[in-house]
Amino acid sequence: MSDVELIKSHLTAYPDFPKKGIVFLDICPILRNPLVFETLITHLVHHITSDTLNRSPTKKIDVVVGLDARGFLFGPIIALRLGAAFVPVRKAGKLPGQTITASYEKEYGMDSFEIQADAIKPGQTVIVVDDLIATGGSAKAAGELVAKQGGKTLEYLFVIELMFLNAASKLDAPVYSIVQSD
Ligand code: ADE
Repeated sequence: MSDVELIKSHLTAYPDFPKKGIVFLDICPILRNPLVFETLITHLVHHITSDTLNRSPTKKIDVVVGLDARGFLFGPIIALRLGAAFVPVRKAGKLPGQTITASYEKEYGMDSFEIQADAIKPGQTVIVVDDLIATGGSAKAAGELVAKQGGKTLEYLFVIELMFLNAASKLDAPVYSIVQSD
C-alpha cells in the first residue's frame, strides 16, 4: 500500500457533522496509529524538503504556522523536523500580548484568527499547515496575518483538500494536499 493509500484508509467520514449537509472528514484515526502518523509527517517533511516547488532543495523554512486547532497536531512536529519555529494562529481572544486579527468565512459560519504581533520577522519564509482545506477562508486569513508581518508564505500544506470548493485559487501561494476529496 502506498503512503497516500495508507493515510486515506485512516480517515473517517461523518455525514451531517457538525451541521446537516456537511460530511466531516476526521483525521483522529491517523493519530491513533503511530506508524500511520509517522508516515504522514515523513511524507509532508519530504515534500517540503524536496524540490517540488521549483526552489532550491536546501531553501530554509523559517516558520511553520499551524492553524487552530487541528493544525496544532501536525505543525509543531513538522517544525521540529525542519529546525523551524512553530507559530500558532489562534481563534480570537486566546493569545496574550499584542495581536493582529483577520476575519474569515468558513464552510459552516464566520470566525476570526489572531497571531502574536512579534511572531514573524520581515523576510522570514513560512509554510501554513492545517488538517483540511475547505473554502480556504481560514488559510487565506492566516496568509494575510503572515503577510502583514512581512513574512513570505511559500506554501499551504494540508492532509485533505476538498476539491469542489476550489480554495487554492484564493491563496497567494501553492497548495499541497495528500488526499484530494470531491
Ligand atoms: N473543516 C471544514 N470543513 C470540514 C470537513 N468537511 N471535515 C473536517 N473538517 C472540516
